[in-house]
Amino acid sequence: MGHLLTMKDLSEREILSILDQAERFKAGERWEDGSDHFVANLFFEASTRTKCSFEMAERRLGLEVIPFESHASSVQKGETLYDTVKTLESIGVGAVVIRHSRDRYFDELKGLDVRIINGGDGCGNHPTQCLLDLMTIRQEFGGFQGLRVAIIGDIAHSRVARSNAEALTALGAEVRFSGPEEWFPERYGDRYVGIDEAMSSSDVVMLLRIQHERHHGTPIASKADYHQAYGLTLERERKMAHGSIIMHPAPVNRGVEIADSLVEGGRSRIFKQMENGVFVRMAVLKRAFQLQGGRQHELVDQTC
Ligand code: CP
Repeated sequence: MGHLLTMKDLSEREILSILDQAERFKAGERWEDGSDHFVANLFFEASTRTKCSFEMAERRLGLEVIPFESHASSVQKGETLYDTVKTLESIGVGAVVIRHSRDRYFDELKGLDVRIINGGDGCGNHPTQCLLDLMTIRQEFGGFQGLRVAIIGDIAHSRVARSNAEALTALGAEVRFSGPEEWFPERYGDRYVGIDEAMSSSDVVMLLRIQHERHHGTPIASKADYHQAYGLTLERERKMAHGSIIMHPAPVNRGVEIADSLVEGGRSRIFKQMENGVFVRMAVLKRAFQLQGGRQHELVDQTC
Protein backbone atom coordinates (compact mmCIF):
# COMPACT_ATOMS: atom_id res chain seq x y z
CA MET A 1 0.00 0.00 0.00
CA GLY A 2 2.94 2.30 0.46
CA HIS A 3 2.01 3.72 3.88
CA LEU A 4 4.70 3.60 6.54
CA LEU A 5 3.14 4.02 9.98
CA THR A 6 4.99 1.65 12.30
CA MET A 7 7.81 -0.85 11.90
CA LYS A 8 5.19 -3.58 12.33
CA ASP A 9 3.94 -2.57 8.86
CA LEU A 10 7.08 -4.07 7.36
CA SER A 11 8.11 -7.70 7.04
CA GLU A 12 11.77 -8.60 7.47
CA ARG A 13 12.02 -8.92 3.70
CA GLU A 14 10.56 -5.44 3.18
CA ILE A 15 12.92 -3.91 5.75
CA LEU A 16 15.93 -5.42 4.02
CA SER A 17 14.61 -4.34 0.63
CA ILE A 18 14.31 -0.71 1.81
CA LEU A 19 17.84 -0.85 3.23
CA ASP A 20 19.17 -2.30 -0.04
CA GLN A 21 17.45 0.44 -2.04
CA ALA A 22 18.82 3.08 0.34
CA GLU A 23 22.33 1.72 -0.23
CA ARG A 24 21.81 1.90 -4.00
CA PHE A 25 20.66 5.51 -3.70
CA LYS A 26 23.71 6.25 -1.58
CA ALA A 27 25.87 4.73 -4.31
CA GLY A 28 24.36 7.15 -6.83
CA GLU A 29 21.35 5.33 -8.29
CA ARG A 30 18.67 7.65 -9.62
CA TRP A 31 14.91 7.11 -9.83
CA GLU A 32 12.64 8.53 -12.48
CA ASP A 33 9.38 6.86 -13.46
CA GLY A 34 8.17 9.55 -15.85
CA SER A 35 5.29 10.65 -13.61
CA ASP A 36 4.74 13.86 -11.65
CA HIS A 37 4.53 12.98 -7.95
CA PHE A 38 3.42 15.54 -5.37
CA VAL A 39 4.33 15.34 -1.68
CA ALA A 40 3.80 17.56 1.36
CA ASN A 41 5.54 17.57 4.73
CA LEU A 42 3.18 18.23 7.64
CA PHE A 43 5.17 18.83 10.80
CA PHE A 44 3.06 19.73 13.84
CA GLU A 45 6.02 19.18 16.16
CA ALA A 46 9.51 20.66 15.93
CA SER A 47 12.06 18.85 13.77
CA THR A 48 15.40 19.54 12.12
CA ARG A 49 16.69 16.15 10.93
CA THR A 50 13.50 14.41 9.88
CA LYS A 51 11.98 17.43 8.12
CA CYS A 52 15.15 18.56 6.36
CA SER A 53 16.24 15.08 5.32
CA PHE A 54 12.79 14.29 3.92
CA GLU A 55 13.00 17.53 1.92
CA MET A 56 16.47 16.60 0.71
CA ALA A 57 15.24 13.10 -0.23
CA GLU A 58 12.23 14.52 -2.08
CA ARG A 59 14.35 16.96 -4.08
CA ARG A 60 16.91 14.26 -4.93
CA LEU A 61 14.08 12.09 -6.26
CA GLY A 62 12.76 14.99 -8.33
CA LEU A 63 9.39 15.05 -6.51
CA GLU A 64 7.20 18.14 -6.45
CA VAL A 65 7.18 19.40 -2.87
CA ILE A 66 4.10 21.39 -1.82
CA PRO A 67 5.08 23.78 0.99
CA PHE A 68 3.09 23.40 4.23
CA GLU A 69 3.75 25.18 7.51
CA SER A 70 1.26 24.33 10.26
CA HIS A 71 1.55 27.77 11.89
CA ALA A 72 0.49 29.44 8.62
CA SER A 73 -2.18 26.88 7.66
CA SER A 74 -5.92 26.65 8.33
CA VAL A 75 -5.09 24.34 11.23
CA GLN A 76 -4.85 27.69 13.03
CA LYS A 77 -8.55 28.21 12.24
CA GLY A 78 -9.43 24.86 13.79
CA GLU A 79 -9.27 22.61 10.72
CA THR A 80 -8.77 18.98 11.72
CA LEU A 81 -5.86 16.79 10.68
CA TYR A 82 -8.28 14.65 8.65
CA ASP A 83 -9.65 17.65 6.73
CA THR A 84 -6.14 19.00 6.20
CA VAL A 85 -4.95 15.73 4.64
CA LYS A 86 -8.24 15.31 2.73
CA THR A 87 -7.67 18.79 1.24
CA LEU A 88 -4.17 17.87 0.11
CA GLU A 89 -5.51 14.64 -1.39
CA SER A 90 -8.17 16.65 -3.27
CA ILE A 91 -5.63 18.94 -4.90
CA GLY A 92 -3.49 16.03 -6.06
CA VAL A 93 -0.90 15.35 -3.36
CA GLY A 94 0.01 11.65 -3.46
CA ALA A 95 1.99 11.30 -0.24
CA VAL A 96 2.27 13.19 3.03
CA VAL A 97 4.95 12.96 5.67
CA ILE A 98 3.41 13.73 9.06
CA ARG A 99 4.88 14.39 12.48
CA HIS A 100 2.35 14.91 15.25
CA SER A 101 2.38 15.01 19.04
CA ARG A 102 -0.60 12.63 19.26
CA ASP A 103 0.13 8.88 19.51
CA ARG A 104 -1.30 7.05 16.49
CA TYR A 105 -2.68 10.22 14.88
CA PHE A 106 -2.84 8.15 11.67
CA ASP A 107 -5.80 6.14 12.98
CA GLU A 108 -8.04 9.10 12.09
CA LEU A 109 -6.82 9.16 8.48
CA LYS A 110 -8.32 5.85 7.43
CA GLY A 111 -9.92 5.81 3.99
CA LEU A 112 -7.88 8.58 2.41
CA ASP A 113 -6.25 7.87 -0.94
CA VAL A 114 -2.93 9.43 -0.02
CA ARG A 115 0.17 7.62 1.22
CA ILE A 116 0.94 8.38 4.87
CA ILE A 117 4.58 8.33 5.97
CA ASN A 118 4.93 8.68 9.73
CA GLY A 119 7.62 11.18 10.68
CA GLY A 120 6.98 10.51 14.38
CA ASP A 121 3.78 10.15 16.44
CA GLY A 122 3.94 11.29 20.07
CA CYS A 123 5.59 8.61 22.20
CA GLY A 124 4.55 5.99 19.63
CA ASN A 125 6.65 5.29 16.56
CA HIS A 126 9.43 6.75 14.40
CA PRO A 127 9.86 4.22 11.58
CA THR A 128 12.19 6.20 9.31
CA GLN A 129 14.52 6.91 12.25
CA CYS A 130 14.53 3.18 12.91
CA LEU A 131 15.33 2.37 9.27
CA LEU A 132 18.25 4.78 9.19
CA ASP A 133 19.49 3.26 12.45
CA LEU A 134 19.23 -0.21 10.91
CA MET A 135 21.12 0.97 7.84
CA THR A 136 23.90 2.38 10.03
CA ILE A 137 24.12 -0.80 12.13
CA ARG A 138 24.17 -3.07 9.06
CA GLN A 139 26.95 -0.99 7.49
CA GLU A 140 28.99 -1.54 10.64
CA PHE A 141 28.28 -5.18 11.45
CA GLY A 142 26.90 -6.62 8.22
CA GLY A 143 23.66 -7.86 9.86
CA PHE A 144 21.64 -8.03 13.05
CA GLN A 145 21.55 -11.66 14.21
CA GLY A 146 22.94 -11.99 17.74
CA LEU A 147 24.01 -8.35 17.92
CA ARG A 148 23.77 -6.86 21.42
CA VAL A 149 22.06 -3.49 21.34
CA ALA A 150 21.56 -1.39 24.49
CA ILE A 151 18.89 1.33 24.32
CA ILE A 152 19.53 3.74 27.17
CA GLY A 153 17.68 6.68 28.69
CA ASP A 154 14.16 8.04 28.46
CA ILE A 155 12.65 4.83 27.10
CA ALA A 156 9.07 5.45 28.27
CA HIS A 157 8.71 8.61 26.16
CA SER A 158 10.76 7.47 23.17
CA ARG A 159 9.18 6.55 19.85
CA VAL A 160 12.71 5.75 18.64
CA ALA A 161 13.10 3.12 21.38
CA ARG A 162 9.81 1.45 20.50
CA SER A 163 10.47 1.29 16.75
CA ASN A 164 14.03 0.08 17.19
CA ALA A 165 13.15 -2.50 19.84
CA GLU A 166 10.43 -3.98 17.61
CA ALA A 167 12.54 -4.11 14.47
CA LEU A 168 15.86 -5.16 15.97
CA THR A 169 14.22 -7.96 17.96
CA ALA A 170 12.41 -9.17 14.83
CA LEU A 171 15.73 -9.15 12.96
CA GLY A 172 17.42 -11.32 15.60
CA ALA A 173 19.31 -8.78 17.71
CA GLU A 174 19.42 -9.01 21.51
CA VAL A 175 17.90 -5.73 22.71
CA ARG A 176 18.36 -4.67 26.32
CA PHE A 177 17.52 -1.42 28.09
CA SER A 178 19.01 0.79 30.77
CA GLY A 179 18.58 4.23 32.32
CA PRO A 180 16.32 5.51 35.11
CA GLU A 181 14.17 2.58 36.22
CA GLU A 182 11.10 4.84 36.48
CA TRP A 183 11.41 5.41 32.70
CA PHE A 184 11.50 1.68 31.94
CA PRO A 185 8.10 0.52 30.63
CA GLU A 186 6.71 -2.83 31.79
CA ARG A 187 6.16 -3.92 28.19
CA TYR A 188 9.87 -4.70 27.87
CA GLY A 189 9.68 -7.32 30.64
CA ASP A 190 12.98 -8.48 32.12
CA ARG A 191 15.25 -6.81 29.57
CA TYR A 192 16.52 -4.09 31.97
CA VAL A 193 20.23 -4.21 32.80
CA GLY A 194 22.45 -1.94 34.93
CA ILE A 195 24.02 1.03 33.20
CA ASP A 196 27.65 -0.10 33.43
CA GLU A 197 26.85 -3.58 32.14
CA ALA A 198 24.73 -2.13 29.32
CA MET A 199 27.53 0.10 28.14
CA SER A 200 30.43 -2.33 28.55
CA SER A 201 28.86 -5.45 27.04
CA SER A 202 27.00 -4.16 23.98
CA ASP A 203 27.94 -3.87 20.31
CA VAL A 204 25.69 -0.84 19.91
CA VAL A 205 25.11 1.73 22.65
CA MET A 206 22.06 3.70 21.57
CA LEU A 207 21.46 6.75 23.75
CA LEU A 208 18.15 8.58 23.92
CA ARG A 209 17.42 12.25 24.51
CA ILE A 210 15.56 13.17 27.70
CA GLN A 211 12.18 14.25 26.32
CA HIS A 212 11.56 17.17 28.67
CA GLU A 213 8.51 18.24 26.65
CA ARG A 214 6.73 14.95 27.48
CA HIS A 215 7.42 14.80 31.22
CA HIS A 216 4.60 17.16 32.27
CA GLY A 217 5.93 18.31 35.62
CA THR A 218 7.74 15.12 36.65
CA PRO A 219 11.00 16.25 38.35
CA ILE A 220 14.12 15.36 36.38
CA ALA A 221 17.58 14.99 37.92
CA SER A 222 20.07 17.80 37.26
CA LYS A 223 22.06 17.48 34.02
CA ALA A 224 25.24 16.70 35.93
CA ASP A 225 23.55 14.09 38.13
CA TYR A 226 21.93 12.41 35.11
CA HIS A 227 25.25 12.33 33.28
CA GLN A 228 27.01 10.65 36.20
CA ALA A 229 24.21 8.17 36.83
CA TYR A 230 23.11 7.22 33.31
CA GLY A 231 25.22 9.11 30.78
CA LEU A 232 28.01 7.86 28.56
CA THR A 233 30.90 9.41 30.48
CA LEU A 234 34.51 9.32 29.31
CA GLU A 235 35.17 6.59 31.88
CA ARG A 236 32.30 4.40 30.65
CA GLU A 237 33.38 4.90 27.03
CA ARG A 238 36.83 3.51 27.85
CA LYS A 239 35.16 0.30 29.08
CA MET A 240 33.02 -0.20 25.96
CA ALA A 241 33.51 -3.43 24.04
CA HIS A 242 36.08 -3.63 21.24
CA GLY A 243 34.50 -2.49 17.96
CA SER A 244 31.33 -1.20 19.60
CA ILE A 245 29.66 1.97 18.38
CA ILE A 246 27.68 4.88 19.83
CA MET A 247 24.38 5.96 18.33
CA HIS A 248 21.87 8.69 19.23
CA PRO A 249 18.85 9.86 17.19
CA ALA A 250 19.62 13.49 18.12
CA PRO A 251 19.14 16.25 18.98
CA VAL A 252 21.81 15.49 21.56
CA ASN A 253 21.99 17.10 24.98
CA ARG A 254 25.79 17.30 25.01
CA GLY A 255 27.19 16.61 28.46
CA VAL A 256 23.96 14.92 29.60
CA GLU A 257 23.28 11.67 27.69
CA ILE A 258 26.83 11.68 26.35
CA ALA A 259 30.08 13.49 27.11
CA ASP A 260 30.57 16.40 24.71
CA SER A 261 33.83 15.12 23.22
CA LEU A 262 32.34 11.69 22.42
CA VAL A 263 29.63 13.10 20.13
CA GLU A 264 32.17 13.45 17.30
CA GLY A 265 34.59 10.82 18.63
CA GLY A 266 35.82 7.65 16.95
CA ARG A 267 33.00 5.38 18.12
CA SER A 268 30.23 7.82 17.31
CA ARG A 269 28.00 7.14 14.31
CA ILE A 270 25.62 10.00 15.15
CA PHE A 271 26.32 12.05 12.02
CA LYS A 272 26.49 8.92 9.88
CA GLN A 273 22.94 8.20 11.05
CA MET A 274 21.84 11.62 9.77
CA GLU A 275 23.62 11.09 6.44
CA ASN A 276 21.93 7.70 6.00
CA GLY A 277 18.56 9.26 6.80
CA VAL A 278 18.38 10.96 3.41
CA PHE A 279 18.86 7.68 1.49
CA VAL A 280 16.46 5.69 3.68
CA ARG A 281 13.81 8.38 3.16
CA MET A 282 14.40 8.30 -0.59
CA ALA A 283 13.74 4.56 -0.49
CA VAL A 284 10.59 5.00 1.62
CA LEU A 285 9.24 7.69 -0.73
CA LYS A 286 9.99 5.60 -3.80
CA ARG A 287 8.16 2.66 -2.18
CA ALA A 288 5.19 4.93 -1.38
CA PHE A 289 4.76 6.04 -4.97
CA GLN A 290 5.52 2.65 -6.52
CA LEU A 291 2.94 0.93 -4.33
CA GLN A 292 0.34 3.63 -4.90
CA GLY A 293 -2.50 2.00 -6.79
CA GLY A 294 -5.39 3.55 -8.66
CA ARG A 295 -7.96 2.46 -6.09
CA GLN A 296 -8.69 3.77 -2.63
CA HIS A 297 -6.51 2.00 -0.06
CA GLU A 298 -7.51 1.93 3.55
CA LEU A 299 -5.03 2.22 6.36
CA VAL A 300 -4.60 -1.13 8.04
CA ASP A 301 -5.31 -1.16 11.75
CA GLN A 302 -1.99 -2.01 13.40
CA THR A 303 -1.77 -2.31 17.14
CA CYS A 304 1.54 -1.31 18.66
N1 CP B 1 15.95 12.31 15.23
C1 CP B 1 14.96 13.17 14.96
O1 CP B 1 13.79 12.80 14.78
O2 CP B 1 15.36 14.48 14.94
P1 CP B 1 14.39 15.70 14.65
O3 CP B 1 13.42 15.81 15.83
O4 CP B 1 15.28 16.91 14.55
O5 CP B 1 13.63 15.43 13.40
